[in-house]
Amino acid sequence: MSAGTFHILGIPGSLRAGSYNGALLRAAAEVLPPGVGLEVFALNEIPPYNADVQAGGDPEAVRELKRRLLEADAVLIATPEYNYSIPGVLKNAIDWVSRPPKTCAFRKKPVGLMGASSGESGTIRGQLALRQVFVYLDSYVMAQPELRVTNAGQRFDENGALIDEELRERLRAYLAALVDWARLVRRCS
Ligand SMILES: Cc1cc2nc3c(=O)[nH]c(=O)nc-3n(C[C@H](O)[C@H](O)[C@H](O)COP(=O)(O)O)c2cc1C
Repeated sequence: MSAGTFHILGIPGSLRAGSYNGALLRAAAEVLPPGVGLEVFALNEIPPYNADVQAGGDPEAVRELKRRLLEADAVLIATPEYNYSIPGVLKNAIDWVSRPPKTCAFRKKPVGLMGASSGESGTIRGQLALRQVFVYLDSYVMAQPELRVTNAGQRFDENGALIDEELRERLRAYLAALVDWARLVRRCS
């Protein structure tokens, strides 16, 4: 992370190598406002939450996620919805970070939510379910604008490159809004 940069930590809610949500985060990194950096933390190494394990100390991947979250100026989650809700791997990672509550790295953290689905939903129900979780964690989740990507298979090529110019401009506007809002939140908190 370079000094003076506004730093966003991107978290995909899918482990798939060909994930549209991973691709959406990579596309986001290409349309950032000046002076903003985005790095992605993949959840593949996060084990299933187990309070017995946590009592003996967080696993390495969880410690790394917590460290990166604490350093970030804002968090950007790009996730599919699974069965109208939050994919288990994402909820699992949030559960690890949430304990112990006093040092939860999501507390007072500006968070942006976006998501891509292969169908027509654009992840709206999954995003709403995530908002509920972040109420308990006392995070600051941006209300508007929302970014919902429907029919993701038509918007990325076989290498995961964004090929939809309208979406690229929506993504650019979303990131500009997220950075402006997160800066405001951080000044006021
Ligand atoms: C277990 C499971 C549940 C799903 N449930 C939904 C759903 O509720 N709504 C929806 O729009 N798509 C649903 N999908 C389809 C996902 O939108 C699609 O698989 C998407 O590509 C996953 O995101 P990814 O490309 O980032 O892995 C589901 C997929 C899986 C594997």
